[in-house]
Amino acid sequence: MSTYEKPDFWAIKAKKEGYPARSVYKLQEIDEKFHLIRKDLRVLDIGAAPGSWSLWILKRLGGTGFLSAVDLSPLGMSAPTENFFFIQGDLYNPAVRQALLDHGPYGLVVSDAAPSTTGNRIVDQGASEAIVEAIIGYSFATLKAGGAMVAKIFQGGAERELLDHMKEHFTQARAFKPKACRAESFETYLVATGFKGT
Ligand SMILES: C[S@@+](CC[C@H](N)C(=O)[O-])C[C@H]1O[C@@H](n2cnc3c(N)ncnc32)[C@H](O)[C@@H]1O
Repeated sequence: MSTYEKPDFWAIKAKKEGYPARSVYKLQEIDEKFHLIRKDLRVLDIGAAPGSWSLWILKRLGGTGFLSAVDLSPLGMSAPTENFFFIQGDLYNPAVRQALLDHGPYGLVVSDAAPSTTGNRIVDQGASEAIVEAIIGYSFATLKAGGAMVAKIFQGGAERELLDHMKEHFTQARAFKPKACRAESFETYLVATGFKGT
């Protein structure tokens, strides 16, 4: 069994606590550090399947606010019918983008979206950077002033340039790697707060 296949502490904990994926603990840590999710917030979750982040956000919203989510794959959780909108599709598809923007504006945009990896680090990194650029585009188009964004990126490429770009539009932007990321993984999260508005 490879390290990736072996259920680790976080995977076992997620299963016990009813989350479809261990990634929930990454968002939890990011939120503890940056205080992003609060009642009444409208949140957009991009690359949401199987749905751990969405499930956790919905719990934190406690029936208030609103959550929109998108993924190429269906969600692997039973989603509520109220205060929630899910669209199965490609984040780059203009009709999908419009449907998500129609449910905004949002106070928070989060993305755990990751490209399918090819094994070629440069290709994979480029695809991950393209996703982050798209998430920045969504954020600029839909965030309310004071809003925040979180986007996963594969490390080792253009994260410095992307952070510099984010810093022009947010009061703060930095990379943060939660402890729940696998030790061997080269992912990190770009977190920006205090959107200055368009
Ligand atoms: C690591 S998973 C997200 C896990 C999720 N945060 C959770 O907690 O359950 C990454 C997701 O990004 C999605 N994804 C990748 N490229 C996408 C795209 N172009 N449009 C929509 N979703 C995409 C994948 O389908 C995959 O489900």
